[in-house]
Amino acid sequence: MRKPLMAGNWKMNKTVTEAVSVVKVLKSSIFDVTDVEVLICPAFTALYVVNSEVNGSNINIGAQNLFWEPKGAFTGEISSVMLKDIGCSYVLIGHSERRQYFNETDKSVNKKTKAALVAGLIPVICIGETFKEKEQSITFEAVEKQIKEGLVGLTPQQATIIVIAYEPVWAIGTGKIATPDQTQKLHIFIRKVYSQMYGYGVSQKIRILYGGSVNPTNVSDFMRQPDIDGCLAGGASLEVESFIKLVKYSK
Ligand code: 13P
Repeated sequence: MRKPLMAGNWKMNKTVTEAVSVVKVLKSSIFDVTDVEVLICPAFTALYVVNSEVNGSNINIGAQNLFWEPKGAFTGEISSVMLKDIGCSYVLIGHSERRQYFNETDKSVNKKTKAALVAGLIPVICIGETFKEKEQSITFEAVEKQIKEGLVGLTPQQATIIVIAYEPVWAIGTGKIATPDQTQKLHIFIRKVYSQMYGYGVSQKIRILYGGSVNPTNVSDFMRQPDIDGCLAGGASLEVESFIKLVKYSK
């Protein structure tokens, strides 16, 4: 049985003060939620304080990126060891904005994934086709390549720990959503690729999230699909009331 995961990616938003005030409200509003795992991914600057705020609660903290080396002369970078040290349990890897603006590739995704796993962090690997790939009808090929190259060299045991976030790039921040139906097909396909790589058992264990213009109105339609195990929300996670609605989606 896969426990649903509702995650918020705050991207480059919120000062420390803003982050703390959101988390205080969130914590008291969802303290009784036990059937959904909750994750928020604040900016690096807010991670430490937000973690002290949620300590002992049912809210998990994740970073939005990391560098693959554990330490050293890499000005401006943050390692998996550092993230683990301040209480992160998850880390987003290969978000499409990082692929688009910061030249992330499946190769760097692979190195970062391995570093996260070694440090005991759960990688949330973001994949998804661009608008151009969708137009060229190569969605399945694009997604398959991202999985195969991003996960190269992982053991089945490591592959079981990973969370995949399927986020069609054209649906991010645009208000355009992939239909729950289309998304379900993609999630089945991702499990099929996983099954070829690591076996059927592993493919049934991993959680696959949907991301891209998820909001309180459409969340339940996604969550009703059998292979959608949660959502990764951007915009709708910034307002605490709307994120609470995502966490408490009606089943
Ligand atoms: P939106 O929910 O704003 O479309 O962003 C999705 C996303 O990129 C989550 O990582």
